[in-house]
Amino acid sequence: MRMRRKRRLDERLASAGELLLLVEGSGFYSLPEQERKRPFDWARVFGNGNPVEVEIGCGKGGFITELARRNPSVNYIAVEKISNVIITAVEKANAENLKNLRFLNADAYNLSYYFTYPVARKIYLNFSTPYPAKGYAGRRLTHPKYLALYSQILLDGGEICQKTDDRALFEYSLVSLSSCGYVLENVTLDLHASPMAQGNVMTEYERGFAEKGLPIYALTAVKRNANA
Ligand SMILES: C[S@@+](CC[C@H](N)C(=O)[O-])C[C@H]1O[C@@H](n2cnc3c(N)ncnc32)[C@H](O)[C@@H]1O
Repeated sequence: MRMRRKRRLDERLASAGELLLLVEGSGFYSLPEQERKRPFDWARVFGNGNPVEVEIGCGKGGFITELARRNPSVNYIAVEKISNVIITAVEKANAENLKNLRFLNADAYNLSYYFTYPVARKIYLNFSTPYPAKGYAGRRLTHPKYLALYSQILLDGGEICQKTDDRALFEYSLVSLSSCGYVLENVTLDLHASPMAQGNVMTEYERGFAEKGLPIYALTAVKRNANA
């Protein structure tokens, strides 16, 4: 089902302030390659050198805003490609005046325009859209082409943390991560009944699945130290 465009969306995006670092917008792909690039100096953006964590596909932002609230000495970057969705997350963070959170209204595939050096200790992939493997595997956020991008963003020893309700996507991700050199550390077929549940912050989608009693699959995969 198509989501109805929010009222005054363009105006709201334009007045979102410094938390929303960029909006790719509809003209993005007509720009010459060079003009698409915006290499952020993340310590400068946040005004400190605190550890950085990134969520890709943050949706309405419930997860990342809760992490930012709980951990003021960690910097969070949330990426979401749909402006109609990210605006809810940005306005929520603005209302709370969260200083350690920034948003990119961008497609994950363009991350290398914005991240030009390894900076993140974690990348969260929460309930990523489970595109069908047949014909659409290239859109899955754990496809090897995305994993290669994450390797450029993650520090050595950094982690990809995935949660999903979709068994097929989860199995695909296990294979994809392993074959791209990530080391699987924690894997569970029932997150909420596992030791990994400790300190777990639920996302909007996760709450919906949990209320229906559906199991949540979760994993942590570590980027190997390049010199090991
Ligand atoms: C099923 S929703 C989950 C939202 C949220 N993470 C949660 O758990 O409640 C998946 C989100 O990922 C976003 N997404 C999918 N592919 C993306 C991509 N290539 N780049 C950025 N965001 C993406 C979608 O727009 C959608 O908002």
